[in-house]
Amino acid sequence: MPKYMKVAKVNEMPPGTAREFHADGKVIALFNVDGKFFAIDNTCLHRGGPLGQGALEDKVVTCPWHGWQYDVTTGQSVFNQEIRVPTYEVKVEGDDIAIGVEG
Ligand code: FES
Repeated sequence: MPKYMKVAKVNEMPPGTAREFHADGKVIALFNVDGKFFAIDNTCLHRGGPLGQGALEDKVVTCPWHGWQYDVTTGQSVFNQEIRVPTYEVKVEGDDIAIGVEG
């Protein structure tokens, strides 16, 4: 059963935005895709770039370091089906956005 940690307010993250958070010893990237929130591990699998600092277009984030791209709804690399970053559950409770981490 994951435990949920509140990391942001809904009004702090309009559609199309991305942010990084430290939660439960991890760094997690949170994205707003057309009003729905998605969370993935912040660390790019190329050389560790910060995905939460990348540009989000539709549901694809581009790593700011060398341009690898990931679907933030699944963690899947756009270019290589064998590469996927971990994803985390997100729930919205009132104005709060909470990320599910290990219980
Ligand atoms: S570290 Fe992300 S593309 Fe190189």
